[in-house]
Amino acid sequence: MDDRTMKAVLFDRFGGPEVLYVGRVPRPGPAPGEVLVRVRAFSVNGGELAARSGRVRLVTGRKFPQRIGLDFTGEIAALGAGATGVAVGDQVWGVLGRSSGFGSAAEYVTVRPERLGRVPDGLDLVAAAALPVATTAITALRDKAALRPGERLLVRGAAGGVGNAAVQLGRAYGAEVTALARVANLDFVRTLGAHHPVDHRTVSPAELGLFDVVLDTAGTDLRTVRRMLKPGGRMVTIAFDLTRPAASLGYIAASAVHGRGRVRFFSGNPDRALFDDLARQVTEGKLRPAVDTVFPLEETAAAHRALEAGGVRGKYVVKVA
Ligand SMILES: NC(=O)c1ccc[n+]([C@@H]2O[C@H](COP(=O)([O-])OP(=O)(O)OC[C@H]3O[C@@H](n4cnc5c(N)ncnc54)[C@H](OP(=O)(O)O)[C@@H]3O)[C@@H](O)[C@H]2O)c1
Repeated sequence: MDDRTMKAVLFDRFGGPEVLYVGRVPRPGPAPGEVLVRVRAFSVNGGELAARSGRVRLVTGRKFPQRIGLDFTGEIAALGAGATGVAVGDQVWGVLGRSSGFGSAAEYVTVRPERLGRVPDGLDLVAAAALPVATTAITALRDKAALRPGERLLVRGAAGGVGNAAVQLGRAYGAEVTALARVANLDFVRTLGAHHPVDHRTVSPAELGLFDVVLDTAGTDLRTVRRMLKPGGRMVTIAFDLTRPAASLGYIAASAVHGRGRVRFFSGNPDRALFDDLARQVTEGKLRPAVDTVFPLEETAAAHRALEAGGVRGKYVVKVA
């Protein structure tokens, strides 16, 4: 195969996982200030399912083919003019910037070096692909909620991609962690460090008491979840209800002035400093990759299908090379 093209996961219409296929696209070269990364693995994120199905077409647009993949691990293959801070051969992890959109489900990506960090020595690049999204959990708990030791933390969606990292970090930061997950995943969230694994389908919120910090990764029923805050508590959500986006985002905005505790929503945009923090949490033993299953690139659709079916334990990772 020539080196002017590369494999990438594409889709030509919105739909179920079956619309995904591995095709060939031009292999990118690093523009000035960028680096070329040979992708070793990426993970499947909840938000990408919505993009593929067309539920967020106002954001993704309707031009095809479209690409998938937001995070990645890999090796630096080339440096564009003026790119600094990394060297060819470095093992890195990163998340594509807001302006570049999806596209890490491919053999190569170009990215500004400020958007990535070095993977800690000894951490396998395929397993490491479960972790770039953990930067969202760090931002939520440390920066947005200012979680303190001894506080009661509730994580909703605790077995998921962001949630599993939040449970681990909450425990490491000294909080008392209640983890909401489906019953089949209660043992899993306990192994992550949850003090109180709770079946979100059978236990009513009123039975759980009140919390200093709530991290919601589901985005639905925010009104009910917010009632679980102590006075002065902090609630962060990283998702909103895609079945009623205007009402859901409106509720989040109005929470700044109405009701108990503002609901903070943010969109992660991790930089080098945050990836360095991520590496530190891993080397200090506060965070480890939770990989549910590794899929080959040709089976990316199966990885999407699995995440869509529910019940993930950590992350579905796709191995590229
Ligand atoms: N704002 C940001 O920067 C940012 C960053 C990353 C992700 N996100 C968004 O955050 C959301 C989660 O992402 P992710 O990658 O962590 O997804 P994920 O891996 O699919 O995890 C979602 C978790 O939520 C659980 N869940 C779903 N409905 C629930 C409910 N009603 N009650 C309790 N738990 C429920 C799921 O559990 P079961 O499958 O067992 O039901 C699953 O464990 C997505 O909407 C994504 O777009 C936002």
